[in-house]
Amino acid sequence: ETQKDLIRDSWHIVSQDQLHHGTVLFTRLFQLEPELVFLFHYNSSEFSDVQECLSSAEFTEHIRKVMTVIDAAVGSVDSLSSLDEYLTGLGRKHRAVGVKLESFKTVGESLLYALELGLGDAFTPDTREAWSQLYATVVRSMSRGWRR
Ligand code: HEM
Repeated sequence: ETQKDLIRDSWHIVSQDQLHHGTVLFTRLFQLEPELVFLFHYNSSEFSDVQECLSSAEFTEHIRKVMTVIDAAVGSVDSLSSLDEYLTGLGRKHRAVGVKLESFKTVGESLLYALELGLGDAFTPDTREAWSQLYATVVRSMSRGWRR
């Protein structure tokens, strides 16, 4: 199997329950960087703890947004440059809401963690490598949003 097949086949499994795996991703992310929870405030009120954030309707929508972007990246894995401008704009939006580019390293670790948990034995070293590369490409495009 090529790297692209590994990506598509593993995403096919995980995307059956995007909300679940996305929740695993963000639960992990908040364990690693708890202060990120304070960047999510809807109707100008801050969440008092991680659990409150994870179970809110607005945050659930953000999880769906994240999974939709990953889904788009997997769908365009043959032509990722077509997402370049969109992803740069998405990076710019995240800078505007106070996200530091370095935090996307932790997001990447959390993504791999969620994939590993969701795929079990199907998460082979080759599959891990394929996802690391896809994620690196996505973050490279997003990172332009932090320039200037
Ligand atoms: C919007 C924070 C990671 C995709 C937002 C918003 C915040 C936020 C505060 C605005 C409120 C909202 O729409 O819910 C964060 C933080 C992250 C993170 C703290 C991790 C450090 C990601 C990742 C993706 C993503 C990894 C996808 C690759 C989106 C999308 C939007 C969004 C699509 C909507 C943008 C729009 O309105 O056009 N994010 N985010 N986020 N985020 Fe994230």
